[in-house]
Amino acid sequence: MTENEKAPAPEALSRLFFALWPDEAVRRRLSLLAEAGHRACSGRRTRPENIHLTLVFLGEVEDRRIAELQAVAAGVRAPAFELSIDTFAYWRHNRVAWAGPSETPQPLAQLVAQLEEGLTAAGFGFDRRPFVPHITLIRKALCRETPSLPCPVRWAVEGFVLARSVRIEDGASYQIIGGWPLESQT
Ligand code: 2AM
Repeated sequence: MTENEKAPAPEALSRLFFALWPDEAVRRRLSLLAEAGHRACSGRRTRPENIHLTLVFLGEVEDRRIAELQAVAAGVRAPAFELSIDTFAYWRHNRVAWAGPSETPQPLAQLVAQLEEGLTAAGFGFDRRPFVPHITLIRKALCRETPSLPCPVRWAVEGFVLARSVRIEDGASYQIIGGWPLESQT
């Protein structure tokens, strides 16, 4: 390349994932759970506004392809469902304390499978590790014991979102790019 030729501008990339995002009431209850966990495990709590459950993690995607992701999301046909967050657990290997359902409801598995099929058909790469539904509540945790839940947090899941993760000084900030409803069961 000569001095007069400009290198092409690098493509703008975003770190993206599909997720379930709680409403205010569920977020409040999950934050209380994070506080209880924090008392037992110390570490760094997830900020309430960041609490979510990842469905599919895409990693870095060119911004010009976001419309294609939105089309994949719009093609999903899955029923709304209730999620019972009845487990608080700790992964020693990455020091993450998390909450989740002890069983994956069939509509949740269906939602993830449809997203993965649509993404594959559209030529997107994504994290293909087996789906383990979890809501990270504390990072850098050191849990000797984990709190037991007095009663499950019931989460009526009516839709899902596409989110962007932006690195900030003390962690990540998440921006919701779009949201799609699930089919109501009335
Ligand atoms: P985690 O909470 O277990 O870290 C944004 O980073 C979201 O994507 C988080 O919920 C994170 O899960 C999830 N995720 C899944 N696979 C990931 C990966 N390979 N790298 C970073 N985040 C990942």
